[in-house]
Amino acid sequence: MKDLQALLDQMTLEEKIGQMAQVNVKRFADMPEVEITDEDNFTTEHKVLRHHMGSLLGAFNAEKAIELQKEHLEKDRNKIPMLFMRDVIHGHTTAYPIPLAMGSTFDPDMMEECCAMAARESAAYGLHVTFTPMVDYVRDPRWGRVMETCGEDPYLNGVMGAAQVRGFQGKDLKDTDRIATCVKHFAGYGAAEGGRDYNLAEISEYGLREYYLPAYKACLDAGSPMVMNAFNSIGGIPAVGNSRLMLDILTEEWGFDGVVISDAGSIGQMVKHGFCENRKEAAKVALDNRCEIDMSSGCYTDYLKELLAEGRITMEQIDTAVMRILKLKDKLGLFENPYHGVSVEKEKSLPLCPEHRDIARRAAEKAAILLKNNGVLPFSEKVKRIALIGPYATEHSIIGNWGAGCKKEESVTMLEGIQDLLPNAEIIVEAGCGMLFTDTDTSGIAAAVEAAQAADAVILCVGEPAMYSGETYCRTDIRLPGVQEELVKRVCAANPNTAVVLFNGRPLVLTAINDIAPAILEMWFPGTEGGSAAANLLFGKVNPSGKVTMSFPQATGQCPVYYNHPSTSHPRTGDQNEFVRFRTGYFDCGNLPLYSFGHGLSYSNFEYKDLNISADTMIPGEALTVTVCVANTGKMAGRQVVQLYMKDHFGTTVRPVQELIDFASVWLEPGEEKEVSFTVDESKLVMWTGAGKYDTEAGLFSLYTGYADHLLHEKQFRLVK
Ligand code: NOJ
Repeated sequence: MKDLQALLDQMTLEEKIGQMAQVNVKRFADMPEVEITDEDNFTTEHKVLRHHMGSLLGAFNAEKAIELQKEHLEKDRNKIPMLFMRDVIHGHTTAYPIPLAMGSTFDPDMMEECCAMAARESAAYGLHVTFTPMVDYVRDPRWGRVMETCGEDPYLNGVMGAAQVRGFQGKDLKDTDRIATCVKHFAGYGAAEGGRDYNLAEISEYGLREYYLPAYKACLDAGSPMVMNAFNSIGGIPAVGNSRLMLDILTEEWGFDGVVISDAGSIGQMVKHGFCENRKEAAKVALDNRCEIDMSSGCYTDYLKELLAEGRITMEQIDTAVMRILKLKDKLGLFENPYHGVSVEKEKSLPLCPEHRDIARRAAEKAAILLKNNGVLPFSEKVKRIALIGPYATEHSIIGNWGAGCKKEESVTMLEGIQDLLPNAEIIVEAGCGMLFTDTDTSGIAAAVEAAQAADAVILCVGEPAMYSGETYCRTDIRLPGVQEELVKRVCAANPNTAVVLFNGRPLVLTAINDIAPAILEMWFPGTEGGSAAANLLFGKVNPSGKVTMSFPQATGQCPVYYNHPSTSHPRTGDQNEFVRFRTGYFDCGNLPLYSFGHGLSYSNFEYKDLNISADTMIPGEALTVTVCVANTGKMAGRQVVQLYMKDHFGTTVRPVQELIDFASVWLEPGEEKEVSFTVDESKLVMWTGAGKYDTEAGLFSLYTGYADHLLHEKQFRLVK
């Protein structure tokens, strides 16, 4: 056990400040060698950092990570290893589906397996920390970063976030196949107004508590040792300098004693916000709000020494921050083994190995959602001639945006996936059109129509480019870009045996193609094995079982449309899509999304029998058991995600019209029936009350199964307190 206090006690101020700084690994490698002395003035970060650096953003590769760490340890008299951190969002080299797709699995075990895989590859590459999970609560698909979250449900987001923490970290961070996680972006980054990245987030205390905070908390409860703050302002105060968030809630209320890191440059950006006069003030504000590591703004290295000399910050603040960072290094076992899991050999053998490809494929199969099917799917494996149409037919970029070390050329395309599965089929490939906004040329559609007419089955691969989602990539119109809607219309008209396969990083508005397309399979960005997974799904080797986790709007103007919205004073009764004067809604569009949260078809049919509830009264301390019988009445074995929803009929704050409180996956053979059991205790009833605290309130509750906006089998109970 390292004596961290003794280590800290003899560190110089420069050495301490070095621990609190992070720069990009490329920039670090280019830094000039500078002799460090206590007299160095602190006007350039280079002087401080070359030998006292606490952490780097990135690692290059295993060999270079070893070299940099070795060189650093030789020069740092304290022998404090550097931390290497990077964004491993959906796999390091072997890509699994983007997080929004992983949400659709409703399978935390699958998420855990994927993250454990990513941890092995990341550790071999030289990383110690990933900037994952991102559990920003989202309800506006115009925002590009919805691809990084698990959708619009706070509970599911928390369950999947915690699964990511367990998957990356395992039981012990010293395990050299594991790396630490960093929960982000605290807080409310997903509420960017208008879905425009970096925009302000206006969230009331009620909104924060009910919707935005629970998932971050779930990840910290699962043991994540780091938190990243956010770019956005909230209530007029940038998150980095927001004492309500960083001190009152995160530190005091939640007792978080791990490490807070800024987002890239976000300390200095408080000047751009007009919240701090200059970078020096920004450094003070960030430290006062317990930001322990400054990612890339340079404000700490430039100004902490000066601020201390002026008595505007204290040595105690710096010591507290450095101690937290040292503790993280200790948890990772870096003082005993500064190289952790880095391995030149494993860096070559692990990525894309058959076992990892298998995990990525299974995840992509579970994440896909069969949005619509009039019976054309699954296609028969006996089809002789297949038309593979659309701009995504041969695209490697189905791997998706923001894969750390993932190379798109390593992904299985649609064409390759189908060829592997059906080596004897004749496949005619026609792009038909491009997928960019600017791809307005319709001249290729005629050839696509011709190919469709000549085929037994048509697979029509459309979507938005991978780079149309992710950081900064926000859209005001979330329909299929370019002339793809026209392609879909004309190809579907040419051959009714057509399935539309979608690749996208956000829910799209599919209204224009929905009635025309015989079947729609949502693949999201499915990762390295996307083409194999899609082929297995389309030809019935695998039964689709994914569910929507973020509403697909009927029109962009409906955004934000989300299933668990608070009740209004003028609800529509009956058909939510029918306009009724003096009832909430739109005049020119229904209230429901096109596809609601929890929706997802199968090649089989699942029937739910009545919900059974063990009592109609709940007394605090006593749990109810809720059971539901699910039967596979179709012809194919499959997985069904059984969802349990609740409605709290009244409270001291307005309640959501429906909320998911639990779910379970059940595998059923044809003709098989199983009972699924849920425990509902008082913790499921906790709400943010009018008294300004989390609590339960006596009253009437309903439970349902089914899925959002299509709830079934209501059973009521009362909480008596
Ligand atoms: C900015 C992003 O907002 C954040 O999510 C990411 O972790 C950092 N850059 C580092 O890449």
